[in-house]
Amino acid sequence: MSTNTTPKAIVQRQATAAPSSMKRIHALEDLEASARFWLPKSIFEYVSGHAETGSAKDGARRAFDRWQLHPRLLTDVSARTAKTELLGETWNQPFGVAPMGGAAMIAYRGDLAIAKGAGQMNVPTVMSASSLIPLEDVIKANPKAWFQAYLAGDLARIAPMVDRVAAAGFGTFVVTADTPALGNRVDNRRNGFSMPMRITPKVIWDSALHPRWSLGVITRTFFTHGTPHYENMDAARGPSMFSQNSMRNFGDRDKLSWSHVEAIRKQFKGKLVVKGLLHPDDARIAREIGCDGVIISNHGGRQLDHAIAPLDALPAMRDAVGKDYPLMIDGGIRNGTDVMKALALGADFAFVGRPILYAAFLGGDAGVAHALKLLGEEINRAMALIGINSLNELGSQSISLRP
Ligand code: FNR
Repeated sequence: MSTNTTPKAIVQRQATAAPSSMKRIHALEDLEASARFWLPKSIFEYVSGHAETGSAKDGARRAFDRWQLHPRLLTDVSARTAKTELLGETWNQPFGVAPMGGAAMIAYRGDLAIAKGAGQMNVPTVMSASSLIPLEDVIKANPKAWFQAYLAGDLARIAPMVDRVAAAGFGTFVVTADTPALGNRVDNRRNGFSMPMRITPKVIWDSALHPRWSLGVITRTFFTHGTPHYENMDAARGPSMFSQNSMRNFGDRDKLSWSHVEAIRKQFKGKLVVKGLLHPDDARIAREIGCDGVIISNHGGRQLDHAIAPLDALPAMRDAVGKDYPLMIDGGIRNGTDVMKALALGADFAFVGRPILYAAFLGGDAGVAHALKLLGEEINRAMALIGINSLNELGSQSISLRP
């Protein structure tokens, strides 16, 4: 087979080649096994972990396995494209990256790696309020990034935060609704992981055994950028991640209510999204007060244990808001066919969490782009195999519950 050696072809091959750290990553599931090997146990389990028994996390994943797809064949699928419109943008794929706090503690400059990798693939990415890199730097790295806020129910704190996010240039503001209290992450405590972080002999020993993380992420971060701070909880810079004061920033989230979301709606001129809803009536309220979309989510099973699986909540929420309202979903999405099942059941878009953070640790922005590319390739292949040229063709005829 001849190889095209024009400069354009070489650049294209380099752009799509897997980074060496990703050579053994053939699907999103592979990322977890690799991250488990290279990360200290407490750090790995901060990401992979869940509230209490893990029922909400496992349930979110298992919900996808209950559905089967119905292919139609001999339909000429050579014109297929996964390009998808969402909130006024055309994205290359019907998926993006969910917000994940503490990313820069897992992966070197994690928020920037994710923002850049998602930007390279032209898919949306949501930066978290619990991030350790100023939001102004993230939007520079990816001007199409969204910002997710954790808000106290206090307009005096909310208004300047909204101003800061708008002034930085974010076009989409996401309010996470499902954290009036922090989920009960029992395993994290068993493994010695805590916020604020505490340096215990166990943490030191575990770090010494995992130099790829302790040298490549933590030591490198401290020497190059100083002690990480919660940069984006409020309009002003927050405390260091080791400060005993950091818990203060979590205060008053139990006072947050729809009235605050309405106030944000009046103040923020861009797109406003509410994340973490699971009830049809809540989705209807979001629509009625002028939010531009909803992310159906149980927070990856990290908040309310035994919460309904987002995929199971989806059909009734779609009925509640009508056909044309942007409904997004996250939780347990690991394959292209998972995304397609969600779309067939009424979602417009899907978000992926943990695997992308592992990819950022293992391969930086190129690792993130590689993981997103794998998911995109799975969708392209599944579109051919199911017999469609556009994702809009997915619907109730494409899917049924396994008998
Ligand atoms: C999260 N999630 C989350 N959600 C949010 O709104 N703000 C946040 O700061 C965080 N932080 C966070 C950290 C980590 C390490 C994880 C794993 C998750 C939840 C996240 O946005 C998303 O809802 C789930 O991760 C989706 O599930 P999967 O794809 O991880 O199964």
